[in-house]
Amino acid sequence: MIDLHGRNINKLRISLTEVCNMACTYCVTSLSDHKRAPDELGADEMLSLVRMLKEHAGIEKVRLTGGEPLLYPNLIPVISGIREMGISSIGLTTNGQLLARKAKALVEAGLKNVNLSLDSLDPGNFKRMGRVGKLHKTLEGIEECLKIGLRVKVNMVVIKGENEEEIVKMLEYGVRRGVEVRYLELMAMGPLYHKDDFKLVTMHEILERISARFTVQPVSADTDSTSLRYWVPGGYFGIIPNNSAPFCSTCSRLRLTSNGQLIGCLSNPTPLSIRHLLDHPDPAEPLQNLVKKSVSYKQDATFTGSALVMSRVGG
Ligand code: 5AD
Repeated sequence: MIDLHGRNINKLRISLTEVCNMACTYCVTSLSDHKRAPDELGADEMLSLVRMLKEHAGIEKVRLTGGEPLLYPNLIPVISGIREMGISSIGLTTNGQLLARKAKALVEAGLKNVNLSLDSLDPGNFKRMGRVGKLHKTLEGIEECLKIGLRVKVNMVVIKGENEEEIVKMLEYGVRRGVEVRYLELMAMGPLYHKDDFKLVTMHEILERISARFTVQPVSADTDSTSLRYWVPGGYFGIIPNNSAPFCSTCSRLRLTSNGQLIGCLSNPTPLSIRHLLDHPDPAEPLQNLVKKSVSYKQDATFTGSALVMSRVGG
């Protein structure tokens, strides 16, 4: 679907569940903030909504997120169901704590790539930033993906005074393991919305640190990619400049929450439920109207912050 700003909205991000087994300090104030929506959709309902969005709204690519999507009880049937409806681009964004023993089954179901959230390679710092969870489990998850040939990228949210000293170390790890690292500028969401001491590390600061250690050359990325991509000897890395160079003008994403609400823009997260269309005999037109309305909230300028918690909108 082409929106008012000429953007082709063809990517769907689904937060399958708001439950998570980590409690990253930039995402929530405590683990108990991650509550399952009382009306969380089951796999069949979710698949029916995805099919509608594919058939009537032009969705071509799906990324499953959360919360922690590996905690969604029917993740495998959801992946195979999406593949069976003819969508081949299926990705997963996970903290990787449960990935090592599930990766093979996910690939067999049709998963094509994984983005792993990994903010630190130091066990103590990992724990400080994530509150719950263990570094070695996420690293084992990455190794399992590499072993079975599943494409992995690592997402590192860079925060002043917390993990900025690990920027180069993370890239060295990525180059060593053949994994593309993407540095995410911190976004003013959830507990960080309107917070005075916003601990942003800018893309320029990230590049400065990396350039002091590596030869860096920009390379082109997909036009609707959120990340700027760079070559270094032995590999590539990306920066997602949420603040410094927001990519709103090329944003092609539509988000669906675990209880069936569309969110067209992180900056204007007015949710519009499409769940009632599950019982509709002819959902095409009402669905298109709701998608149009939802993406009309999309800004063409810049991200302005949001009280929304990432686990509800899936990143
Ligand atoms: N700022 C930047 N990135 C964030 N993520 C979650 N919250 C924030 C935030 N406030 C990241 C997660 C995940 C990705 C989808 O978004 O760590 O890797």
